[in-house]
Amino acid sequence: MNGMARRAPIEKATWKAGNLLAPVPAVLVSCGGMKGWAPNLITIAWAGNVCSEPPMVSISVRPERHSYEIIEQTRQFVVNVPSLRQARAVDWCGVVSGRDADKFAGAGLTAAPALKVGCPIVLECPVNIECGVRQSLKLGSHTLFVAEILAVQVSTELVDPRGKLRLEKGGLLAFAHGEYFALGRRIGRFGFSVRRSKGHKRR
Ligand SMILES: Cc1cc2nc3c(=O)[nH]c(=O)nc-3n(C[C@H](O)[C@H](O)[C@H](O)COP(=O)(O)O)c2cc1C
Repeated sequence: MNGMARRAPIEKATWKAGNLLAPVPAVLVSCGGMKGWAPNLITIAWAGNVCSEPPMVSISVRPERHSYEIIEQTRQFVVNVPSLRQARAVDWCGVVSGRDADKFAGAGLTAAPALKVGCPIVLECPVNIECGVRQSLKLGSHTLFVAEILAVQVSTELVDPRGKLRLEKGGLLAFAHGEYFALGRRIGRFGFSVRRSKGHKRR
């Protein structure tokens, strides 16, 4: 594992403490469409998987967002994982408020029924993760919503004949330090650092 050639010493600069964890996802979170709220979309970069059993995700939302009030009251949302095809919509839904625009119509996205929650999914996004809020935590600028995953839908065009989800076929999007990136080539599979290559003979 330690076969790296010696290089010049690595120098470091001290930066102001900040959110430099990268890359992160940039997802389209849908909410509303229930309890008197119109359907809405908000772009969220502060999102992540937080538990496997039960499956849970979190999103961090500023209280001044229109979506905050909706999620706070309805306790439901959908994390829609976009492909590169929705990159423009991802950005647009992150700079326009649902107070001023119908974002589904404005972004040319289709609101389709979810399986387990009252808010719609974004049909065009390859993965739709339906969530029910279990906890919220006021952290400062953002409130963290921790939610249980209640149902997942995936676009069948990304499922190969063996039933494997080929997300890379959709063209995945990442966000890093204020910029969007298209995910590049696959460099290995979980555990590749310890797996023996096929050509490697046992001693
Ligand atoms: C790439 C990107 C990521 C964003 N991530 C977040 C986030 O994690 N939390 C948040 O509160 N706002 C985030 N925003 C800002 C909101 O998406 C934006 O303020 C949006 O217009 C709010 O819409 P709403 O008022 O309809 O809820 C992000 C915006 C962009 C473009």
